[in-house]
Formats: sequence, C-alpha cells, structure tokens
Amino acid sequence: MSHPVAETAPGEHVDALALVRDTIAAAAGPSEAGRRAVEILYERFPNYDWVGIYWIEPSGTELVLGPWTGPEPTEHTRIPIGTGICGAAAASGQTEIIDDVNLDPRYLACFTTTRSEIVVPIHHEGKVVGEIDIDGNDPAAFGPPDARFLEEVAALLAPLRPREEEPT
Ligand code: SME
Repeated sequence: MSHPVAETAPGEHVDALALVRDTIAAAAGPSEAGRRAVEILYERFPNYDWVGIYWIEPSGTELVLGPWTGPEPTEHTRIPIGTGICGAAAASGQTEIIDDVNLDPRYLACFTTTRSEIVVPIHHEGKVVGEIDIDGNDPAAFGPPDARFLEEVAALLAPLRPREEEPT
C-alpha cells in the first residue's frame, strides 16, 4: 500500500513543481534545498513511498546518496555506475520506469515493500550529475506523467549538486 498524504488533486504536478522551485529559491543553501525538495515529493504524492537523490561523485564512477525521505534508510548509499536500476539510468542518461522490480534482473533490493521504481537522471551542462530515485509500494506506481514532472524537478535540482570545493 502507498502511504497517506495530506492532499492530492489533479494538477498536483504543476503545483508541486512551483513549490519545489520556490522552496529551492528560498533555501539557505544547496543542502537545505535538496532536503526540502525530497520532502515535498514524499509529502505530496502518496505513490512516492521513498524519495532520494543520488549524486555522481567527482571521479564519475559511483553514485552517492544525498538527501532522502522515507520510512527506512537504504543500505545502498553508494552504487557503481552501471549497477542496479540507478546505475543503469546514470550510465544511459535515460529515465527508467520499472513496473515490477521483481521482474528486472538489474534491480538492487532496498526495501521488502518496494514493487516499482522510477529513476530520473539529473543533467547539468551536458553530463549526468545525479538522479532522483523513487520507490513505490504498489506495482506500476509510476507512469509517463511522473517522468515528465520529475524531469522538470531534476532540472531544478541540477545546480544543487555538490562540488569538490564545497562542503555538502
Ligand atoms: N533499487 C535501486 C537501488 C536504490 S534503492 O531503491 C534506494 C536500484 O536497483 O538501483
């Protein structure tokens, strides 16, 4: 079962995108902005049962977990590029929508409750710099409208990526 949220309504993607944009603009810095963005996604959408951002580390070989919100932490805090659904999306730069994670041999299991997953790469200056990873407790919890929405969120998140010279 998906988790309860305060409100959901048609047009919610548009409202949430504006809220993410305003929240990032008002945040004290990139860490706070990223944290608030994942909270908004989790709080607004009952089918977004675990929401996290992975950033590609400077060497370009691994994804490292950044801000996340959900009932439990994941053991997968570092994922090699090319491994799992997360690593596949980072390697290809393409959004992955997995209706049934149990049927995808690439899937790295995090939570026993997860049935479906969406991973949306974050592009910046022509490169993949990170991704949004969302797990759903229902099969086929995500569709093309989620992909379109999250690709717009990803564009807002791109400037927040940690840089080598900045603490995160
Ligand atoms: N399931 C992902 C790993 C990350 S957890 O879902 C948080 C994967 O297959 O890459």
